[in-house]
Amino acid sequence: MEKLIIQGNKRLNGEITVSGSKNAALPILAATLLTDEPCVIRRVPHLLDTVTMIKLLRSLGKTVEFNKNTVSVDSRGKARYLADYKLVSTMRGSFCVLGPLLAKLHKAKVSLPGGCVIGIRPVDLHLKGLRSMGAKIRIEGGYVEAEAKQLKGRAVYLGGVFGSSVLATANILMAAVLAKGETVIECAACEPEITDLADFLNAMGARIEGQGSPRIRIRGVRNLHGASCTLSPDRIETGTYIILAAATRSPIRIKNAQLSHIMALVDKMSEAGVRVRDDGTALSVHINKNLRSTSITTYPYPGFPTDLQAQFSAFMAMVPGVSIITDKVFPDRFIHIAEINRMGANIRREGYRAIVEGVKKLHGAPVMASDLRASAALIIAGLAAHGQTEISRIYHLDRGYESIDSKLRKIGAKIARVREH
Ligand code: UD1
Repeated sequence: MEKLIIQGNKRLNGEITVSGSKNAALPILAATLLTDEPCVIRRVPHLLDTVTMIKLLRSLGKTVEFNKNTVSVDSRGKARYLADYKLVSTMRGSFCVLGPLLAKLHKAKVSLPGGCVIGIRPVDLHLKGLRSMGAKIRIEGGYVEAEAKQLKGRAVYLGGVFGSSVLATANILMAAVLAKGETVIECAACEPEITDLADFLNAMGARIEGQGSPRIRIRGVRNLHGASCTLSPDRIETGTYIILAAATRSPIRIKNAQLSHIMALVDKMSEAGVRVRDDGTALSVHINKNLRSTSITTYPYPGFPTDLQAQFSAFMAMVPGVSIITDKVFPDRFIHIAEINRMGANIRREGYRAIVEGVKKLHGAPVMASDLRASAALIIAGLAAHGQTEISRIYHLDRGYESIDSKLRKIGAKIARVREH
């Protein structure tokens, strides 16, 4: 196992480049299961999660090459419909092979992904949607077994207790493209990753309209052909660097970023006293001398993303005043609080809220990463804190941030990756 050692309280300077979107890569890779023809996906970030998805595609009979940041998928082997527990349990994103396997092979056996530290994470909406399209589904031995000779287009409502679901929308979308007739997904997720997926499916010959809105209409076709695409910039990585710049008072420039994908963050940052500008080549971050404590509530897109909640909380921990952090997408996503408090922060949890009382400065400490975004929050806290921070269990970080420590070193961060004993 490896850990990061950070010497904090250093100003960073220069340009940092955002990689392609992880959360767009995963369903788009799964979508290649819908055709026997070759597909090429560019700007795929080299991450544990994308490598896991590639292993899963190989286990399902695909031939896959991952060269630099380009993934080429071909179908030379026999297609298989079993998505094994070992691969699905390590990454929830792999559950989105269910829809395409069922649509293409008429049956699928996919391991249930299970919960994780950010919450229980059920899959009821995925199953409800597929059942309403005529799939017979049973759960046995920890696996979802689904069968349908011919999926039928239906009106499918995908709103749950916490609003829309990104991966349920992806699964139903991918099932519907080969279904008979028209499917209308109501309360669909509006995330840019769903738009990217629908655009890729359309490039394969699907007939999808309304992506990016809560109502997506899909007219089923008989076959899909091969296609290629280039992934959008990762909006969560972009947001992480904006927050990092503000927390360390560093005038860094962020390249390959799409401002329109992170307006909820930009709005809250401006309330806090941080302006983000797009000059056409990069985003620049301008930080007021006096920052203001700011409250956030996370919602599905275009609301404030839950995947930036931990990072924003780490920033607010260092801004004088009180901010209230409410997570309406994953109400249990507060494991990072205890670790940031080890660095001198004053954050307490009250139900699905965290109350942050900003302190003047944080102090470096040994801390433990509990999940992907919590790891990023600890890096932000560590780079801004006085003294040395050691972050262990950083394998979470490698699931979602491509070469983050070497990217940060290039802009002046004192951050080293060492083996843990
Ligand atoms: C995706 C993202 C993840 C992000 C999350 C919310 C990927 C690979 N992952 O995860 O980074 O944090 O969106 O933006 O894209 N829910 C149900 N029933 C279901 C499905 C979900 O109740 O069948 C609930 C979840 O528990 C959660 C909420 O709906 O409270 C939103 O979850 P969802 O959008 O499904 O998250 P994922 O798609 O798994």
